[in-house]
Amino acid sequence: MEEERVITNKELKEDTFETSIRPDSIDEYIGQADVKENISVFIEAAKRRKEPLDHVLLYGPPGLGKTTLANIIANELGSNLKTASGPSIEKSGDLAAILSTLEPGDVLFIDEIHRMPRFIEEILYPAMEDFTLDIIVGSDSSTRNIKIDLPPFTLVGATTRAGDLTSPLRDRFGIIAKLKYYTVDELKQIIERTSRVLEVPIDEDAAINLAKRSRGTPRIANRLFKRVRDFAIVKGDGIIDKEIVDMALDRLKVDELGLDETDHQLLKAIIERFNGGPVGIESIASSIGEEVTTIEDVYEPYLLQTGLLKRTARGRMATKKAYDHLKIEYQERLF
Ligand SMILES: Nc1ncnc2c1ncn2[C@@H]1O[C@H](COP(=O)(O)OP(=O)(O)O)[C@@H](O)[C@H]1O
Ligand SMILES: [Mg+2]
Repeated sequence: MEEERVITNKELKEDTFETSIRPDSIDEYIGQADVKENISVFIEAAKRRKEPLDHVLLYGPPGLGKTTLANIIANELGSNLKTASGPSIEKSGDLAAILSTLEPGDVLFIDEIHRMPRFIEEILYPAMEDFTLDIIVGSDSSTRNIKIDLPPFTLVGATTRAGDLTSPLRDRFGIIAKLKYYTVDELKQIIERTSRVLEVPIDEDAAINLAKRSRGTPRIANRLFKRVRDFAIVKGDGIIDKEIVDMALDRLKVDELGLDETDHQLLKAIIERFNGGPVGIESIASSIGEEVTTIEDVYEPYLLQTGLLKRTARGRMATKKAYDHLKIEYQERLF
């Protein structure tokens, strides 16, 4: 049940506290050095020219800080942020309504922009290019085109799948930034920042331990922090130390690399039932009772990224690192 995984990168109800710990200036935004540096330069230049910032496309897996960065961009520009999400814009009127509330210099954030219907995208093109809204009004017998001038604004789009964006839309973004998974050190800094904001102290080695289990994802780091904090309050003296982290994550069944039981099941299936692979994804899916797409979208990315799983032309393979991690003896195989 993906929904119930504590280590899912999707936003859960319990993450509502995120807004209180979300950094709101670029200096507080940890990691993503290249993206930060480029965006800072573009923001500074736009301010000096007194022109709106170019449209920005942010893409990367869930929980890496896209929404956070959209907020920061608006703050750094000293602009208002208006928010919409791709799937909620169903009719051309929905988009027209949003666009017509824009004031000069506003930042319009469209989350999950890849899920916007194509015919709505087409309304966005002239809006992005010339700041005009081109709409058709009236009914079949008497339709006419009207053009409305929009104030200059900046569109910030976020997507987890840049590949799902049509190229005409993608081409209209002047700035395209890909967010990457965070290093353990960056996650440690994020955890230490959260600890300061929430005023719950954490030892340095506990922070490192937690960082290692956060799957490269700030959202997961913060969620685990919150769970561990509860253990520290109930079972400890309120300070998060390494023992508390170990105990809490043991209970939550999250291992030292941030893998949970389903990850273990998946790797074990490949090793034990398919001799380590290569094995087709369909076979893995039926062997552990999951959908192929769930494996591809949810489980695989982190296993691939940590080098526990390898994708080959003939299927998935468990690596030596996976055997070592699961403490299963690895035998060199000759092909
Ligand atoms: N670079 C960062 N530095 C500090 N905290 C971050 C950073 N990126 C994300 N976070 C934290 O992780 C949470 C999830 O980030 P969010 O922007 O909602 O991710 P996304 O929109 O990509 O799914 C935020 O609430 C924030 O607290
Ligand atoms: Mg988001």
